[in-house]
Amino acid sequence: MELTQNLWERYGFTDNPFDTKALSLNKAAPLSVQDAYVERDTSSTSSRLLMNFLRNPGGGRIVVEGEPGVGKTTFVNYHRQLWESAADHRLLSPLTEISVREDWGERDFLLSLLSSLSARLRLDMGEKAFEKNAVLRKITAITGVHVEKGHGFSGSISIIGTGGGFGRSSNSTVKVGEITNDQLRELLSALVTLIQQRGFAGVVFHLDNLELLTRKGSQNLRDFFENVRDVLQEPGAYFIFVGHEGMFQQVIAPLPRVRSIFFDTPVHLEPLSHAAVKQVMQKRYNLLSPPGMQWIAPVEYDVVFYLYEIFSGKIRYVMNAITSLISHLPDSYARPLGLDDAKAGLYEIVSGELQRTLRGMELEVFLEAVRQSRFTNSSLAVAMGKSKQQIQKYLPNWIESCFAVHAEKEGRNQFYEVDPRFLVLNESPTKEKE
Ligand SMILES: Nc1ncnc2c1ncn2[C@@H]1O[C@H](COP(=O)(O)OP(=O)(O)OP(=O)(O)O)[C@@H](O)[C@H]1O
Ligand SMILES: [Mg+2]
Repeated sequence: MELTQNLWERYGFTDNPFDTKALSLNKAAPLSVQDAYVERDTSSTSSRLLMNFLRNPGGGRIVVEGEPGVGKTTFVNYHRQLWESAADHRLLSPLTEISVREDWGERDFLLSLLSSLSARLRLDMGEKAFEKNAVLRKITAITGVHVEKGHGFSGSISIIGTGGGFGRSSNSTVKVGEITNDQLRELLSALVTLIQQRGFAGVVFHLDNLELLTRKGSQNLRDFFENVRDVLQEPGAYFIFVGHEGMFQQVIAPLPRVRSIFFDTPVHLEPLSHAAVKQVMQKRYNLLSPPGMQWIAPVEYDVVFYLYEIFSGKIRYVMNAITSLISHLPDSYARPLGLDDAKAGLYEIVSGELQRTLRGMELEVFLEAVRQSRFTNSSLAVAMGKSKQQIQKYLPNWIESCFAVHAEKEGRNQFYEVDPRFLVLNESPTKEKE
């Protein structure tokens, strides 16, 4: 077999047009938010809501929520990028989003705000000016973000939370343990002021994937908000929290002290429209093909539409399925894949995966779970004529293998959902051909 470097070259692309990473703020990335973003429906209020939030002088707090893979991170990245280059009321933002961790309290939160923002400022002002500034030097010493001479290594927030001996740099020997949270808050204020002196109206912090904190129930996330409430009121700072569908109602609303400092409506993101998904692909085909060169669409548009329906519009799953299909094609195949072949191909890929990992009754039960899509222990027990205990023993394995996730708890019922990639199994290609 020929080892081609790039699966996508035969279609005329330099990279995977169906890559599902969130669009980057970095202009140098193959798919940046500047070039590859498609506006959500103009009739939708989500963009307007976020705009109005960021337009409010003085800072604020807002929640952006929606189903997995609908484009939340990309949406927030896009808006951050817009405001960085706005004519007036410019807002500076760390380059990457901040992922909140399960065990975070106020201190970890403050440290990560400080380090991500100062890293951004370092890029903005350059190494020399950065090193001259006393506030920035101090933050660097505390957060461990420093460039080791000769290595070009730049630490990042990943250093935080590992405990131990971080917090020293050649200029200073401040230890994190010696600094109080109040002092960290003062540093944050000083940093925001510094940024304002540089002509920005404020800063935007993008806190991503808050659902990671709710795995063991919403209480963790509520505690987090109670703990960081004071930090969130930093003048000039805009906090955007991205989380699962219903997060505002479940987590923020029951906490009067927290709710009172939040923008009263969360931004709710629906899946992109069918037309927008089509546009996303078109843009990517053009961006990833060398100028003036021809390209071949890897799939016929019917395929995209079919997947769009199966996955209820969640673009991440649509694109992952296409990548998976193309990866299974023979190398010589360089024409658009049609709908029938795509259906048959996906069916085979997914059922093959199942047959390799699950056996006998476990496989039977899982297929029933796929038919139900969202299930409980007892819904499977009833359908299969088994006891709940017999079903229960399979669940840890399914979750471990990412075949299913725990969706939520409603009263005494634990709901689970099968990973959407299996839903193609409900559309038997052979049945339709009969
Ligand atoms: N408006 C858009 N224009 C262009 N591409 C988009 C748009 N929205 C989403 N995408 C693409 O769809 C994919 C999923 O988007 P993203 O990662 O932002 O979703 P998400 O809702 O944050 O997902 P998760 O719930 O897993 O965090 C990415 O590849 C992203 O580039
Ligand atoms: Mg995301």
